[in-house]
Amino acid sequence: MKPAFRWTPAHLQLRIAVVGANGVTGVELCSLLLAAGHAPERLVCTARTARTLALGASTLPVQAHSDDVVAQCDLAFLCTPSGVSRELAPRLVARGVRVIDLSSALRMDPQIPLVVPEVNGDLLAAQPRLIANPNCTSAIALLPLAVIERLYGLAEVIVVSYQAASGAGAPGLQALRAELADLGSGGRGERAADSPFAAALALNVIPAIAAVDAHGHSGEEQKIVEELRKILRRPDLIVEASTARVPVERCHSVAVHLLTQREVHLPELYAALEAAEGLVLVRDPHGPRPRECAGADPVSVGRVRAGNRGPRSLSFFAVGDQIRKGAALNALQIAGRLEPAP
Ligand SMILES: NC(=O)c1ccc[n+]([C@@H]2O[C@H](COP(=O)([O-])OP(=O)(O)OC[C@H]3O[C@@H](n4cnc5c(N)ncnc54)[C@H](OP(=O)(O)O)[C@@H]3O)[C@@H](O)[C@H]2O)c1
Repeated sequence: MKPAFRWTPAHLQLRIAVVGANGVTGVELCSLLLAAGHAPERLVCTARTARTLALGASTLPVQAHSDDVVAQCDLAFLCTPSGVSRELAPRLVARGVRVIDLSSALRMDPQIPLVVPEVNGDLLAAQPRLIANPNCTSAIALLPLAVIERLYGLAEVIVVSYQAASGAGAPGLQALRAELADLGSGGRGERAADSPFAAALALNVIPAIAAVDAHGHSGEEQKIVEELRKILRRPDLIVEASTARVPVERCHSVAVHLLTQREVHLPELYAALEAAEGLVLVRDPHGPRPRECAGADPVSVGRVRAGNRGPRSLSFFAVGDQIRKGAALNALQIAGRLEPAP
């Protein structure tokens, strides 16, 4: 199958580093690169701990991270915690490596482009050496929002998220699986040892993602507000966000309620959503759903309907595989739109 990112013969020649290759986004990135025909010999994988990744018919060695090894590459994807990326990204750029960082460390730096290619891919024309990849929930909400912004102008947006366990990386996925396994063997599915979550996630909903500040806002909610404004180039946009962790393995969902500046025409909007790159319009009144969207490249948008606040009000529900469009795939789409020069 053709990859959902542009990968030319020149891209195939790039020496690529994946830092944090043992994690959920790192593994996904490596799998997508191999599926696009990138030779394993042109991939350098590093993480905190050395191991061997088994990806389908291929195996990839992961080395204990060393800047010197990664500095020999043309392009590095940082699939690392934000504290690691914050230090590592500038060090690698200074050594001539182009960097795409998947963490939140540099996203709000005004000098660093934060890119969802379908929305603000024009920023890549300047061939930046350091690019930030967006928050997973922001990326998924943004694809339909950008269409609505273009047609009618957004006035205010309320985003409510239902986020999968794997959004907290491999430890989140392991915790949910351990709790479900315990339930399956007759236990109570209590909070797993080493869980990154505040409480047991199995049979539960945890109504805040990441730490909550003195005003009651979670870190994830702040990211959604700031990133929507930056990527849509609408610093004035009113955005409210509320985030929750749900017992789903992969795929984040968002319920979005909004007001536009101009009147919405639903048939026109349906046509535009159907035609938009990276989006699938779902007509099933009970969809889209994370279980069916897992592993898919596009974001699915459904339940598109007029709101109760007049002809400028609208609601929709969108689901995207946050390890793909919210992370690895978006990063590869960025790379695919850059000149593949070392
Ligand atoms: N999960 C998602 O859905 C998602 C979506 C968008 C963005 N992100 C962001 O992407 C980044 C990676 O997330 P993830 O979910 O893949 O996390 P993860 O599963 O916890 O993986 C993190 C990776 O970073 C490696 N690492 C940690 N410290 C390191 C260091 N000092 N040097 C080199 N490697 C180091 C770990 O190595 P070991 O395994 O050897 O410890 C592991 O491979 C995070 O910043 C996250 O916020 C995640």
